[in-house]
Amino acid sequence: MRLAAKLTVSILAAIVLVFGVRGYQAARRQMLAAEERARENSLLVGRALRPALTGIWRQEGPALALEMLAYAADRVRRTQQLDLRFVRLPSTDKPGQEPLVNSKKLAGLAGDEERHFVETVAGSETLLTYLPVAVAGQPIGALEISGPLTERDRQFREEIMQTLTRTALAALAAFLAVAVAGYLFVGRPMRRLVAKARRIGAGDLTGPLDLHQNDEVGVLAKEINQMCERLAAAQARVEEETNQRLAASEQLRHADRLTTVGKLASGVAHELGTPLNVVSGRAKMILRGQVSGAELVESAQSIVDQTERMTGIIRQLLGFARRRKPEHRREGLRGVVERTISLLRPMAEKSGITCTIVREDPEPFADIDVSLIEQALTNLVVNAVQAMPGGGTLTIRSCEEVVSPPAGVAATAGSYACLHVEDTGVGMTSEQLRHAFEPFFTTKDVGSGTGLGLSVAHGIVRDHGGWLAAASAPEKGSRFSMYLPASQPTEATDDQNPADRG
Ligand SMILES: Nc1ncnc2c1ncn2[C@@H]1O[C@H](COP(=O)(O)OP(=O)(O)O)[C@@H](O)[C@H]1O
Ligand SMILES: [Mg+2]
Repeated sequence: MRLAAKLTVSILAAIVLVFGVRGYQAARRQMLAAEERARENSLLVGRALRPALTGIWRQEGPALALEMLAYAADRVRRTQQLDLRFVRLPSTDKPGQEPLVNSKKLAGLAGDEERHFVETVAGSETLLTYLPVAVAGQPIGALEISGPLTERDRQFREEIMQTLTRTALAALAAFLAVAVAGYLFVGRPMRRLVAKARRIGAGDLTGPLDLHQNDEVGVLAKEINQMCERLAAAQARVEEETNQRLAASEQLRHADRLTTVGKLASGVAHELGTPLNVVSGRAKMILRGQVSGAELVESAQSIVDQTERMTGIIRQLLGFARRRKPEHRREGLRGVVERTISLLRPMAEKSGITCTIVREDPEPFADIDVSLIEQALTNLVVNAVQAMPGGGTLTIRSCEEVVSPPAGVAATAGSYACLHVEDTGVGMTSEQLRHAFEPFFTTKDVGSGTGLGLSVAHGIVRDHGGWLAAASAPEKGSRFSMYLPASQPTEATDDQNPADRG
C-alpha cells in the first residue's frame, strides 16, 4: 500500500469513528427527548381526565363514567393518536379491560404514582402509561394511555440519516484533501526520490534533486544531493589516483623496456653483422665490375633481401621499445613466443644457449595486450639467459591447463593459457625466490640488473587477470610460469572485436 493511501485510510477511519460516535449519541439524545415528550403528552391527557372520571363515577355510577371515558377516548384518538382505556388492576374487582402490559407489572400501583412501559403492541413499539384511579380512597382500576412511538423512531432515523450524510461528506472532503496533499507532498516527491536512488545505484551521480519542499522529504532530497556530491568528489579522487598510479606503472614499464632494449642491442648488432657483410661484399663486386648480366641482377636482389632483413630486425627492436596504447585482443600465444624468441635468439646463442620451443596442443589463446605480454615474456627469457652465462638449455613451452590459482591471487579456477620458461642455469635460493618479484630486488651487478624485470612482468600478468609462478633450485635451474585466463573462441573475439580496437 502506498504511503498516501495509508494516510488517507487512517484519516478516513478517524473521521468515520468520530462522526459515527457523535451521531449515534445525538440520535440517542433525540430519541430520549422524543420519548420524554410522548410521556408528558400521555400524562397530560391522563391527569386531565382522571378527576372527571372519578367525579362521575362517584356521583353517577361506573356506567356513566365509563361512557364518558369512551367518548373522551374517541376524541383523544382522533386528535392525538392515543388510545385511552379503563383497565383492571390486579388488586381490584371492578369492571374494566385487561391492560396491554402484563398485569403483574401494575401490582401496587396507587395514589399519585404513574407508570410507563415501552412494549411491542401489534408489531410496533408503543408507550404505555398507567395512572391509578381511586374513588373515596379505594382503588378501582387504572387509566391506560397507549400511543405508538413513531415520532421517536422517526427522529432517530432522521438523526442517523443526517449522521450518515455528514460522515460521507466529511469523508469525501478529507479523502480529496489527503489524496491531493498526499500526491503533491508525498507521492510525487517519493517517486522522484526513488528514481534518483535508482540513478545513483546505476552510477549516475549527476542531476541534483530539487523538490522545492522544506519538510522532511525536502531535507532528505538535500541530504541525497550532498551525498552525491561527496561521492562524485571521492570518485574523482579515486580516478585521479588511479590515473597517477597507471601513469607511474606505465613509466616503470617503459623504463624496463628501454633497459631490455639495451640488453638486446648487442645481440642485435651481432645479428646485423652477417647481412651487412653480404651487402658490402656484393656492392663491392658490382662496383669493381666483377659481375654482369644475370649475376648482376642476382647480386642486386641479394642486397635488397639482406637490407630488408636488417630493416626487419631493427623495426622489431624499435617496435619493442616503443610506447604503445593499451590494446586487448584475442591472440594465440605461439605467435607471442615466436616473435619474442626471434629478438632474443642472438643474445642466447652468444652465450652458447640452445633454445627449444615446445608447442602443446591445443594452441592456447588469451585476451591480451600483445606488446605487454611480449615484454613480460622477454623479461623472463632475459633472466633465463642471464642465469646461464656458460651455456645451457632454454625451453619455452606453451599449453592450455585447467588450474586453480594459488592463495592470495584473485582469480577463479578454470582454463588458463600458460607459458613455461625453463632454464638450466644457476637457480635461486629459497630466500632469493621469496624476494624475486619485489621491485628493485636484484642479485646482479650494477649495469646488468635493475630488479624491475620480474616485478614489471608480474604487474602485467596480474593486470590480465592471471599470475606468475616460479620454482627454482640452486645450480639446477629455474622455471617461471605465466598463467593467463584462456579465451574461448567466439564470433565476437575470433574476428577482431571493433570495441577492443579502441
Ligand atoms: N631464471 C632465473 N634464474 C635464477 N635467478 C633468477 C632468474 N630470474 C630471476 N632471478 C633472480 O631474481 C632477481 C630479480 O630479477 P629481475 O626482477 O628480472 O631483476 P634483474 O634481472 O634486473 O636482476 C634476479 O636478480 C635474480 O637473482
Ligand atoms: Mg631481469
